[in-house]
Parts: sequence; C-alpha cells; structure tokens
Amino acid sequence: MKEQKAYIETHKERFLEELKELLRLPSISADSQYKAQTMETAQLVSKLLKEAGANKVEICPTPGNPIVYGERMVDPALPTVLVYGHYDVQPPDPLDLWTTEPFDPVVRNTDIHPEGALFARGACDDKGQMYMHVKALEVMVQTNTLACNVKFMIEGEEEVGSENLGWFVSRNQEKLACDVILISDTGMLGNDTPSITTGLRGLSYVEVKVTGPNRDLHSGLYGGAVANPINILAEMIASLMDNKNHITIPGFYDDVVELSAEERAEMAKAPFDLEKYKAALDLGDVHGEEGYSTMERNSIRPTLDVNGIWGGYTGEGAKTVIASEAHAKISMRLVPNQDPEKITRLFTDHFKHIAPDSVKVDVTPHHGGDPYVSPTDHPGYRAASKAMEESFGKKPVPVRSGGSIPIVALFERELGVKSILMGFGLDSDAIHSPNEHFGLFNYYKGIETIPHFYKHFAANA
Ligand code: BES
Ligand code: MN
Ligand code: MN
Repeated sequence: MKEQKAYIETHKERFLEELKELLRLPSISADSQYKAQTMETAQLVSKLLKEAGANKVEICPTPGNPIVYGERMVDPALPTVLVYGHYDVQPPDPLDLWTTEPFDPVVRNTDIHPEGALFARGACDDKGQMYMHVKALEVMVQTNTLACNVKFMIEGEEEVGSENLGWFVSRNQEKLACDVILISDTGMLGNDTPSITTGLRGLSYVEVKVTGPNRDLHSGLYGGAVANPINILAEMIASLMDNKNHITIPGFYDDVVELSAEERAEMAKAPFDLEKYKAALDLGDVHGEEGYSTMERNSIRPTLDVNGIWGGYTGEGAKTVIASEAHAKISMRLVPNQDPEKITRLFTDHFKHIAPDSVKVDVTPHHGGDPYVSPTDHPGYRAASKAMEESFGKKPVPVRSGGSIPIVALFERELGVKSILMGFGLDSDAIHSPNEHFGLFNYYKGIETIPHFYKHFAANA
C-alpha cells in the first residue's frame, strides 16, 4: 500500500485543483435559479468519474436534478461496493458572514486545521467528501489495487430531501445491486480521534401559519382586543416543551427506543470535553432534555426546534401594527423507532388542538425521513474500522450522529443493503453555515483510507 500513498503524494496538488473546480459551481438545489449550474455540476462529476477510471458513466435524468451513475466492474465474482454521495449544496447565505466568497474556494489555516482547510460551500458537505471516493478510485486503478467492483450513485437533491432518489432506486434495483453502501457524508470526532457513524436521526419538518384578523391592524385601535397571531404563535411554540425540555406533544415519545444502561455507558466513553464545547460556541451553558448528557441529547434523543419564524413588521424603525399572520418552520429530529409520518400527524393534531378560537392554524408538512442505525457486527463496519485503524494508527470509535440522511433507511428497504457511514468531516467544519471548510488533512486521509476499505471488504465480505 506504499504505492498508493506515493501516488497520492505525487498527485495531491491536482486532486485539490479538481475539487476546487467542482466547488466553483453553485449547485444550490434549493434555489431554482441555479438549475443550469446544477446540471453543469452533474456533467462535471460524470467527466471526472470517467477520468478517474469508471468505465461506464451515465447522467440519469429524474423529474428533478439528475443522478450521476458510474461503475467499474472488475469481476462479477467479487463483492460490489456502492458509493453514495451528493453534488448539491446548501444555499450560502448569509453571504456577508463569509470571509471569502462561498464559490471561490481558497485554502486557509485554522486552529483545528493547521495544515490548511479549503473554504467553500460544499467543501465538506458533500463535494469534498464525495470527491475523495472519486480520487480513491483513481488511486486504486492506477496502482492496480482495485479489489472489488465499484458503483457510484451521486445525487443532486440531498439537501432538499432526495425526493427523486427513491424513485430512481426503486426503478434500478438491478443496476444498483451491491453488497454494501459506502457513504462519506458525516463526520468524525477529531483528526486524532477517528470514529464511524453508526446512527442517523430521522426528520419530520413542518411549516405552520397562524392567522388572526383578516388584515394587518393598527395596534392602538385594535391592540388588546383581538388576538395577535405572533404572540399566540410564540405561546404555542413555547408550550411544546415543558420545564424539563421534554416535548409535550401527546404520543411523541411512544415509539422511542430507550438505550440500555450498558449502551449509554459505552457511549459515554467517547471522548467529549464539555468546557471546550461551550467555549467553541461562546455559550455560558448548554441546554437540553433533563436526564441526558450533551452527547445523548444530540444523537439518541428526539428534538423539536424552530428553524425560522416571521411575521409583522421587521423593517427599519417602529411601525405600530398587529399582523394578520405569523409563520414558523419547525423541525423534529427523530430516533429509532419513531415514524416521521406519524410524528407529523401527532404534531399537526396537537398544534391545532392547542390553538385558541381567536386564531386559525394551518400546518404544512415538508420532507421527512426515517432514522437509521448501522450495525457494528457487519463486514462493512469491520472493513471501515480496519481501514481507519490502518490510516490513522488508531481504532475508530462508533458514534451515533444527530444529523439526517433520509435516503439511507430507504436503501435498506429497497435494496436490502446496509450503509457504512465513514465520514471525514469535523463538527467544526461549519457545514450549512458561513465559512464552510474541509481540512486538507481530512481530504487526503479520506483518499488514503478508502482503498483500505475495499481491500478489507474484499477479503472478508
Ligand atoms: N451530510 C448531511 C447530514 C449529516 C452531517 C449527518 C453531519 C451527520 C453528520 C446532509 O447533507 C444534511 O444536511 N442532511 C439534512 C437533512 C436533509 C433532509 C436536508 C440535515 O441533517 O439537516
Ligand atoms: Mn450531506
Ligand atoms: Mn447537508
């Protein structure tokens, strides 16, 4: 494997330049204005996949953004690894909080990444992590070390709920047949603390509208006599959590799988420094459900958060007005075995039930997704663990993540295959935030580790 490392060393500059090219395209799936650039990104991914050594590459149209499919079949008798990733990115705003332009990638050093980090929207989530797999293929092909068949499925709608991926997967079961799915779209604990993600939370996402009077009113003439929908919405939202930060929606916790004392003790062994955590976020204290640690609160427990709230007058100066409407977007992160559709229903019924007669309430569901737990006694997990141990010199720890990749549960349902979440990002890489970045150490470490995965998986699948 010295050969692979030497190949990476020789070509590392080009590997970085190619990723920068990918990052210059604003493939923002949430914004239809970027449709053309998103299509262009799919084309570039397919070109780069071909150049890396995939011998069959297709851009598969869907009712939305296309899916880039690629494969390199070595021998049908060998196991097949399916790599999933996404080429779409989150919108970059708020733009004024970026130190450099979101679509003009530049390398800068940070405290956590002293050897440099690449700053751009999508650097970590997920272009940088997806592209590690493309470059790992090149490394294996060029050093004659590809030990498995490999398939790539790179989508362009992950950040907006993967609506067309389910459609694609159910229509292409044979094409996508594989022994394991390998994904780098999560993180690890630290550059000297490798970890493998063994769980993802599910998601239920709703938008609510509270309507009071049929028009905006003078807050002096009507104030005090009619319901102010913004006041009412704030009260309703506040009531969704009790003073122990338990969610008050009846039935919300019914299907939640509680971890055993042993499992919780095992989890508590993962390194975590609460003081550093608070300092990194400038927090006086942490906050959350009583009876659970910070690590538990953001992984094995469900949550309810307002993601945005608006209504009334927010311009310059003061306008005395009672708005007709108030709005909020609310997400609930779910854990095994909560069902997103059931939770959305429970939320809707409850939210309408608690509304006073003085207002009307509308609830609109957005995309959701199932939680996922990945087994640690699977050949794919063992291969990932050995691969990371080989490249980091340290055995990775299993960690359940708080994020969501809704399509992972669907892969298991449709294809009957487990996903291994071997991510190389850090929580501090600011994904979805201004100044997203990806450590160069992490990028190259990923490219080095992935071929080890193939080797160990081929040997033991
Ligand atoms: N890559 C993330 C999910 C992630 C990040 C999981 C870090 C674990 C660790 C993914 O692109 C994402 O942002 N997912 C969304 C859900 C989706 C339906 C928009 C999320 O988690 O908010
Ligand atoms: Mn992602
Ligand atoms: Mn994301």
